[in-house]
Amino acid sequence: MYNKAIYAGSFDPITNGHIDIIRRAEKLFDKLIIAVIRNPEKDPVFTIEERIELITELFKSSNKIEVEGFEGLTAEFAKKKDSFTLIRGLRAVSDFDYEFQMSQINRALDPRIESVCLMTDAKYLYLSSSLIRQLASYGANISEFVPKSVETALKAKGHLK
Ligand code: COA
Repeated sequence: MYNKAIYAGSFDPITNGHIDIIRRAEKLFDKLIIAVIRNPEKDPVFTIEERIELITELFKSSNKIEVEGFEGLTAEFAKKKDSFTLIRGLRAVSDFDYEFQMSQINRALDPRIESVCLMTDAKYLYLSSSLIRQLASYGANISEFVPKSVETALKAKGHLK
């Protein structure tokens, strides 16, 4: 059987926490689609095109990983891609309620959808994209949390001193 999965998110920007989840999911599936949302609820630092480009560059050597943009419901995107496994990274226990709710909603939208939660590496438990943006704006050293290309891109945006 050909197993494929979707890892959806804003990725504004992608962090080492996301990359850890992607590398582990890559081992479990034949194909992994990283789905970058044009999220109308968030006002991103990076355009969707910039986010896609950063992620594509990071995973260009993997023949299992595809990067795509989408808008609207993740369930609709899943149907379009004929790919009904959604990867989620679970960080602290506090993520659980939200993930539980999302998985219920997604299954109500399309019963074929299953959410697979991978436990985030302890190093990245408290990491989020907005935390990175905030740390960068104060000129903190973020090299432990994001790839070099993201640091460079944040600098270019004037978001890293
Ligand atoms: N390492 C580091 N950071 C992580 C992480 C990890 N393993 N997992 C999540 N995060 C961060 C994200 O960067 C994000 O940070 P931010 O809020 O500062 O941007 C935060 O934790 C929340 O992550 P997540 O819940 O994945 O939010 P998201 O905005 O990246 O993605 C979607 C959310 C796109 C998956 C969800 O909103 C969605 O499916 N939207 C489409 C609409 C829809 O279908 N709705 C019905 C289902 S609820």
